[in-house]
Amino acid sequence: MEYTFIGHQSWLIEEGNTKILLDPLLEDTFGFDQRYGIEVVPPRIVGEGIYKDIDAILLSHEHSDHFHLHSLNKISRKTPVYVGCLTIQPLIDAVEKLGFTVHKLKSREKIIIGGLEISAYQAHPKTVLWESRVYQFLFRSFKNNYSLFIAVDALISKDFEQDIYNKDIPQPDSILISNNSQIPPKGVTGSLDNLKIPENENRARMGALGLRLVKGIIINYSDLVHDLEHIILCGGGFMKTGDTFGEFMMSNQGKVAQLAAPLFPDKKIDGAVPGMVFRNGELLEERSINISENIERSIALKEKFLNFLQCPEWNLKAVSESSLFSFQECCEKILSEVLSKHHQIMASEFGRILVSTGNPNECFALTLIDGNTKLEKNFSYNWKTNNWKEIGNVENIPFGIRAIALDFFYVVIGKIQIWDIAGLAVSSWYDPVLGNNPIKYSPMGFIYSLFGEHFNTNHFEKLCNEQIKEISIV
Ligand SMILES: [Fe+2]
Repeated sequence: MEYTFIGHQSWLIEEGNTKILLDPLLEDTFGFDQRYGIEVVPPRIVGEGIYKDIDAILLSHEHSDHFHLHSLNKISRKTPVYVGCLTIQPLIDAVEKLGFTVHKLKSREKIIIGGLEISAYQAHPKTVLWESRVYQFLFRSFKNNYSLFIAVDALISKDFEQDIYNKDIPQPDSILISNNSQIPPKGVTGSLDNLKIPENENRARMGALGLRLVKGIIINYSDLVHDLEHIILCGGGFMKTGDTFGEFMMSNQGKVAQLAAPLFPDKKIDGAVPGMVFRNGELLEERSINISENIERSIALKEKFLNFLQCPEWNLKAVSESSLFSFQECCEKILSEVLSKHHQIMASEFGRILVSTGNPNECFALTLIDGNTKLEKNFSYNWKTNNWKEIGNVENIPFGIRAIALDFFYVVIGKIQIWDIAGLAVSSWYDPVLGNNPIKYSPMGFIYSLFGEHFNTNHFEKLCNEQIKEISIV
């Protein structure tokens, strides 16, 4: 079995003449709107050989770094597309509108495509809500029985874990792990930074994550798949086009793997770089002829990175261009939209922690920023009366979110996705003593859940339809 890394979390898996694409990102950028485009890093150019004569496409879930209609548009419509049966309907509709036939797989369901047996596995139920509909895949070669498990985004599937425990399937020979930890520079917020456990601060915005998370992931996975010898890290291979800090936002998985290797002397850890080809767990010296480095872009990003190092100032940055909507209008819409979700807030883990503060009027704050004038307004939420109150400062409020108003406004009206502004135009803080589980109690984690695609399927449908319109016009 051969597997070629296309970038971020896209893979081509081959056995003889059989070719399967997983979550194809084939263009330089992805996302639902060019203006808020997200660039694949390290920059690379994907040749036609990667997506020609494909036997099947697997789509793990709906997030825009895994599901990209413009990339699917490059592939023959005769290619069957497989998704998990919990995949949200607008994704299936959009792929069918492009002219593909979509097949739904149950957890543990097996399909045979040429020389490969592929089993779908539903994400572990303890996975964070916004990744809970992910499907992971086990590939087995008929030729030599070699097996590869691809643990996309979520915690490793419970069904998969049980199948191994019951010896229904052998342990996989290799595992591909999504490492989305990202290693941004000190002071810069990556998409996941708001979920960090802080080190020295009472009110946390930052802290070291990077390698600590990688170590956690590998230990977790090794516990479950204990004899596992070969691990490949991928993921985090993107940056927002509007950022000011160059390559920082991606996890250079090659470097991460080098740093992580001494922590696990009994394992072989590789970090995937676009164009790398693995054959039955061995990294081949020769890179894929179908993927080449985008040298011009790489140089530009390195320059950006060096400029940032010389002047490492960072603050929230607007991703949207100026618009007809006033700061006041944006604030009003955001505040009323959050109020309309009162029952969801109160029924969540985040709501519980707000109640546990014993202070209904000073537990959660929202700071909204005018992207043009930098004027900031602070609001405090009262869960008892379901109301907002404008306040002077947020010093004593244990949980809160800071956001560029127009960007957050676009998210709430469904023009862009929460992921378009995560780590760039929005950040959050939380009290680590009151809410010591950042996944459960970080306001940002809560916002990801509240505005993620699985809750806002109508918004997602609208975004897909706009993209299909764009594709048909071209
Ligand atoms: Fe995801």
